[in-house]
Amino acid sequence: MTTFCNDILNGKVALVTGGATGIGKEIARTLGRHGARLCIASRKQENLEAASKEFESEGLECMWVPCDVREADQVEHVVRETVRRFGGLDILVNNAAGNFPAPITGISYNGFKSIVDIDLRGTYNVTKAAFEATLKEHGGHIVNITAPFEGVGVAMQAHVAAAKSGVDSLTRSCAVEFGPYGIRVNAVAPGAMADTEGMARFSSVAGETEGGSSCPLGYIGAKQDIANAVLFLLSDAAAYVTGQVIAVDGGVSVDMLKLRLPKD
Ligand code: COA
Repeated sequence: MTTFCNDILNGKVALVTGGATGIGKEIARTLGRHGARLCIASRKQENLEAASKEFESEGLECMWVPCDVREADQVEHVVRETVRRFGGLDILVNNAAGNFPAPITGISYNGFKSIVDIDLRGTYNVTKAAFEATLKEHGGHIVNITAPFEGVGVAMQAHVAAAKSGVDSLTRSCAVEFGPYGIRVNAVAPGAMADTEGMARFSSVAGETEGGSSCPLGYIGAKQDIANAVLFLLSDAAAYVTGQVIAVDGGVSVDMLKLRLPKD
C-alpha cells in the first residue's frame, strides 16, 4: 500500500503505455489499487494478457490493447477503445520506452531513430490522441516517464538522453498549452530501479547493483517509488504542480562530485 487513501482515483480511467511490464506495470497496478480502471498498451500481446490476468486476480479492472506508440493509427485505436469501454479517459501515463546501452559510434542511424521514435515521438503521439479524443473535453492528467539526464552528458546513453530531453521539453510545453483545459502535465525521472530490464542492462556499465548504489541515499530504488511519485502527481496534493520533471533517483542527478563525508 501507499501513503494515499486507496480510493483517491475512484471513477477515473487511466491509460498506461508500456503498462504490461517493469515500471509501467507497477504504475498501472498502483493506479488500479487506488481505484482507477486501467487500460494497458504495449507491443507484446502475451505480456499484456499476462499482466491483465494478474491485475484481475487482484480485483482490478483492466483492459489491454496491443500498440506500438510509434504508429499514430494504433495509438488512436487504443484511445478510442479505452473511451468506448470505459466511457472516457482521465489519466495518461506515457511510460513506453526503448533503451540499450551503446557509445555514440556504436549506435546505428536506425538505432538512434528507433529510440527517438519510441520515447519522444511515441509520447507525443499518445498525448495528441488522448488530448484530442477526450482530455480536452473535461481535463485530466498526463505523466511522462523520462530519465534524470536533464542538463548533463550521459555516456552510453546519447540516444536516450536526447530523446528524454525532448520528453522533458514536451512536458513543459504541454503543461503550458493544456493548463487552460484543466490538464496538468508532469514527468517522473527514475534512476536505477531494482528488478527492471533497465537495471539488468545497465548494472554492468553503470556499476550499480541490486545490492547497493553510489547515489547519495546509498540504495537502489524500487518500482513502487516511481508509482508513488506518479500517484502524488495525480493527487490533489499536487493540484498546483504542472510542467515539472521530478527525479526519483536517490539524488544521483544532483551529485556532481560524488564525495561522501564521514558521518558524525
Ligand atoms: N545495441 C546497439 N544497437 C541496438 C541494440 C543494442 N543493444 N538494440 C537495438 N539496436 C538497434 C538495432 O540494431 C536496429 O538498428 P539497425 O537496423 O541499424 O540494425 C535498431 O536499434 C532498431 O532495433 P530493433 O530491435 O530492430 O527494433 P525496435 O525498434 O523495435 O526496438 C528497442 C528497439 C531498443 C526498443 C529494442 O531493442 C527492445 O525491445 N529493447 C527492450 C525494451 C527496453 O528497452 N525497455 C526499456 C529498458 S530501460
